[in-house]
Formats: sequence, structure tokens, C-alpha cells
Amino acid sequence: MTSIATPSQDIEFATRDRISSLQLERLQWSLLHAYTNVPHYRKAFDDAGVHPSDLKDLSDLAKFPFTAKADLRANYPFGMFAVPQEKVSRIHASSGTTGRPTVVGYTTGDLNNWADLVARSLRAGGVKPTDKVHVAYGYGLFTGGLGAHYGAERLGCTVIPMSGGMTDRQIQLIEDFEPDAIMVTPSYMLTIVDAMIKKGMDPSKTSLRTGVFGAEPWTEEMRTELEKQLNMDAVDIYGLSEVMGPGVAMECVETKDGLHIWEDHFYPEIIDPVTGEVLPDGEEGELVFTSLTKEAMPIIRYRTRDLTRLLPGTARSVRRMQKVTGRTDDMIILRGVNLFPTQIEELILAVPALAPQFQCILDRPGRMDELTVRVESRPDSAIDDHARAAGELQKLVKNRIGVSVKVDVVAPGDLERSLGKARRLIDNRSAL
Ligand code: DLL
Repeated sequence: MTSIATPSQDIEFATRDRISSLQLERLQWSLLHAYTNVPHYRKAFDDAGVHPSDLKDLSDLAKFPFTAKADLRANYPFGMFAVPQEKVSRIHASSGTTGRPTVVGYTTGDLNNWADLVARSLRAGGVKPTDKVHVAYGYGLFTGGLGAHYGAERLGCTVIPMSGGMTDRQIQLIEDFEPDAIMVTPSYMLTIVDAMIKKGMDPSKTSLRTGVFGAEPWTEEMRTELEKQLNMDAVDIYGLSEVMGPGVAMECVETKDGLHIWEDHFYPEIIDPVTGEVLPDGEEGELVFTSLTKEAMPIIRYRTRDLTRLLPGTARSVRRMQKVTGRTDDMIILRGVNLFPTQIEELILAVPALAPQFQCILDRPGRMDELTVRVESRPDSAIDDHARAAGELQKLVKNRIGVSVKVDVVAPGDLERSLGKARRLIDNRSAL
């Protein structure tokens, strides 16, 4: 079996002082590496009047400029790489909804760290080296499939590289190969569960004991739903391609209280998304990451657009991030009130007749924006429950969030099923 007891593992339980001094040393290296080898960073630092040698303390990082997705796009395809192409072992890219994809590169050293961190994440999530792991994240340019794959292999697991889609095939292999763990987006897990029920199977009777869910926001209420339906532990894995891929942060199965950030490789900050000011731990804002060890593509103060808070460590000594509320891009501003699809998910799951298959549709029929929540009913709910359920959800949204929305309850199976990341928000306003 592969040995995974690397010295980097102690850091999960190290003192804060040790973590900070390791971070400072690595941060100094990473800034200098970026400045020396990436023209974009040299120019950005020079324009801001800072030099890597100005970083004497971790808080000095606030003097350095942010990096945004637009910077990666402007340097498409390989302009952000800090090593010559022959040192790049692998390329990934995220398609994005508009414009050019963002491209990321890895050296063999980066791939090795990534596999270690996903192995570490899986172990924290309760996966064991003796487990069979079914990977239903997409393989390819998306970091989900291959990132999960090599991490599970590194832990010593038996990997089933199923990839996304072909739901009937997924179900057949879950029945026949009896995996212990599954790695998949929570919305695609629901699609698989629905298909199992349709076939007359009981999803709680499968061999699956752990679900490692990520790549999209999901709520505590969704955790309860998945754990109940599948009789498993549902844990959260976070990451993004620009920073690495899955395994930047991971929830520990023993506490399930937010995600521990692997701070020996990534330095997190929370900023006010409007002013860019760094906020103290505990306050909600936009998550920003600086890579500490990446060779092929160091990333400095990358604005993730994900909203969360930093919290002290519990099951590990590294800090936690709260489950992500949503992305700034997915924030709906309805008549002056800000809301996220995750808040709608939470409330849907409080109405027994409604299933967590839903879409938020924004329209502007007159001068005002309108939000319609289109949501499926549970297969076992009676048709006359639907109007009541719609009223109940409307009232909950009005009371808890403070806005009026329309609710359209549709039959089970009426909404398009997610095969990967769910599309929760449909904005029809620009088409008008
Ligand atoms: O989604 C990497 C990944 C794959 C993570 C598999 C976990 C599992 P991207 O396609 O670059 O990378 O998308 C990154 O997805 O900025 C978040 O908005 C969202 N996201 C990822 N994980 C979570 C999570 C992968 N656990 C973007 N909770 C991020 C909420 C998440 N949102």
C-alpha cells in the first residue's frame, strides 16, 4: 500500500505558530516565484509599488494586488505559467459560461501535492485505504474527475473511474461493484437517487457509506436529505481549478462543521467584495486564496467570488471555512433584497411535499424583477398538496428572506436533471 504518512500530515494538528511560520516562509517563496517568472505578476506588483521582499509578516499580503478571472483570461492560454512548457505535466481548464476558458497547469511536483491533499481530504472525510471509491465527477479538463481519482489512488483505495453521466450505468456499477464511497456533485447524487427509486430500488440499501460531495454549493438541509435517503455520511469537499481543483478544503467526518482549509498549501483571506478590505476571521465576505507551493501556476490573492467566513479549527488545527453560501455571481438582488439559491434550497427542504429539485428563474415582465421558484413535488405527495406546498414555500420565503416570489410546483421528473454542476439560476432579464 502507498505510504501516506508524509511529514506534511503533521501540519493538520500543528500549533498555530508552526502553521504561521511555515506559511510565511512559503508565501515569501511563492511571491518571489510569481514575480520572477510571470510577467503579469511583475507588472501588477510594480504598478502597485510592492516587491516580494516587502512581505515580512503574513498581514503584509494585503499590500499585494488581487488576481481575478479576467487576468487569467487576458493571459490565455499559458501566460500565467511560471515554468517552461516542458516542465508542465498536465493542463486543466474550466469552461465557464462565457468567454475563453481559464487554463491551469501543473508540474509533476504540483500533481504530487494535489494527490496528497485529496488523499488527506478523503481520510478526513472518513474514507479508508481499503475502500472502493466510485468517482462520478466528470473526467477531462474539469479538475473533479482526475483530481478525485489520483487522490483516492494515493490513499490506497480501489478507484472506479466512472465519470459523470450515463445514470443507469452508474446505478448498475454501484449495485455490482459495491463501492464504499462515492465522489460526485450533490445535485447529480440526487439525480442518481431519483433514478434508483424509479427502478424500484431502495437507495438506503446500497453499499455506499460515505458521499464526498462538492463542486457546487449545498446546504445543511441537503446533507440531512442525502444522509437520510442514502444512509451514509455526507461530507463537503471544496476547491477550484484556478487554485488547484478539489481538495483545497475538506470537512471532517467526526465534526461536519465546515471545511478545514489545507493551510500549508493555500493561504486564505476574507475580503469585503466591494472595497477589497481584508476582514477579520468570523466575518462573512469573499474568499481569496494565495498558493504557497504551486510551481507551474502560482496564484496570488485570487478572488474566488465564493462567499463564506473563516473559523478556528476544530477536528484539525488549520482554520475552517463555513459551507459556501454561494457565489457573488449567483446572488439575486430582488427589489433591493439579496438572496442566494442556497437559501431557497434550505426553505424548500422545510416543506415536506417538495423535493430539492429546483430552479430560480428571474424575469422582468414590467419595471420590476420577479423571481419564480420552480420546484418539483415529492413522488409520494398528493396533487392537492401542491397548491398548499406552494403557499407554504411562498410564506417561508417572505418571512425568512423578506421578499415575495412566485412558486411553481411541477411534477416529479419535470425539471432538467443535473449530470454535474446544477444550474440553479436562470436569468431571463438580459434577453428582454
Ligand atoms: O468545482 C473543483 C471541485 C471538483 C471541487 C470536485 C470539489 C469537487 P471549478 O470547476 O473551477 O472547480 O469550480 C470552482 O465551484 O469557486 C465554487 O464556486 C464551487 N465549489 C466547488 N466546491 C464547492 C463546495 C471545481 N464544496 C467553483 N461548496 C468554486 C460550494 C463549491 N461551492
